[in-house]
Amino acid sequence: MRGGRRMSGGGSSPAGATGGSPALSARGALGLLDAGFALYVADPFDPERNPQGILNLGTSEKRLCFDLLEERLTRPDMNYLDPGLSQYSDAQGTGRYELHVIIDEIYMLSVYDNTTFTSVLRLDCLPDPERTIFMWGFSKDFGMSGVRVGVLYTRNREIQKAVNQLAVFHSRPGPVQHILSQFLRDRDWLDNVIFPANKKRLKDTQNILVGGLADVGIPVLKSSGGLYVWADFRKICIQRLEQMLRIYAAEPATDYIS
Ligand SMILES: Cc1ncc(COP(=O)(O)O)c(C=O)c1O
Repeated sequence: MRGGRRMSGGGSSPAGATGGSPALSARGALGLLDAGFALYVADPFDPERNPQGILNLGTSEKRLCFDLLEERLTRPDMNYLDPGLSQYSDAQGTGRYELHVIIDEIYMLSVYDNTTFTSVLRLDCLPDPERTIFMWGFSKDFGMSGVRVGVLYTRNREIQKAVNQLAVFHSRPGPVQHILSQFLRDRDWLDNVIFPANKKRLKDTQNILVGGLADVGIPVLKSSGGLYVWADFRKICIQRLEQMLRIYAAEPATDYIS
C-alpha cells in the first residue's frame, strides 16, 4: 500500500546477514523481524519527501535515553582507571577461553557505608569488548521492577541483533518511557533527592535486619550494597536436622514407606 505503507518488523538495526555467530543460538539470528524493518529502512515514509514510503508501525524504538547514556558515557571522567577496577581483573582470563562476560550492575546505585561502586564501563579499555555485556535496570536502584525497563549495552553486533529479535516483543508503553526519561533528565532530583534518600533508607533497613538476626544468633556476611543480606542459617538448620534424624531414628522405617 503506497502513501504510507505499513510494515511490521523489528530491530533497531537494518537487516544483515543471517549467518550469525556459531556461538549464538539460531533463534536469535533468524532475521525474520529484520526483514520487515529492512524494507522500512530502505524506503522510509516522510510526509514531504517520501509520502509513498513505508511506515514503521511494527516496532516501538526506545531511543529516549540514548542521548543521556551516550553523552554521559563519553565524558572524560569515564576514561580513567580507578583502583576499584581491580575487582574486574579476572575478566582478563576470559579472553583465553573466549568466554562472554555478562556484567550485571543492577545494584550499582544501591551501595552504602561510603562504598564507591565502580562500573565496568569506566574501564578505558575492556579486556574483550566483543564479549562483554553490561546490564542495568530500574528494578533495584529505583525499586521499580514493575516497569520492566533496563539497559543492555554491548558492542557486539551479533548479540545486539539477537537481543533486538527478542526485545521487539517487549517494548514499553510510551507513557512509561516518558516517566522514566523525566526521571533520568532530572539530575538535581537524582543526585540530591532520590539517591541520597535511597542510600540512607537502605542502610537503616539493613541495620534493622542485621541487628534482628544478630539478636537470634544468626551471623551475617558484611555487605556494602544490594537489597539483601547473606545470612548463615547453618546453626539452626543443623539443629533442626539433628532433631529430625533423632525422630526418624526413634520410629520404625515402615512408617515412611506407606
Ligand atoms: C543480580 C540481579 N540481576 C537482575 C535481576 C532481575 O531484575 P528484573 O528482572 O526485576 O529487572 C535481579 C532480581 O532480583 C537480580 O538480583
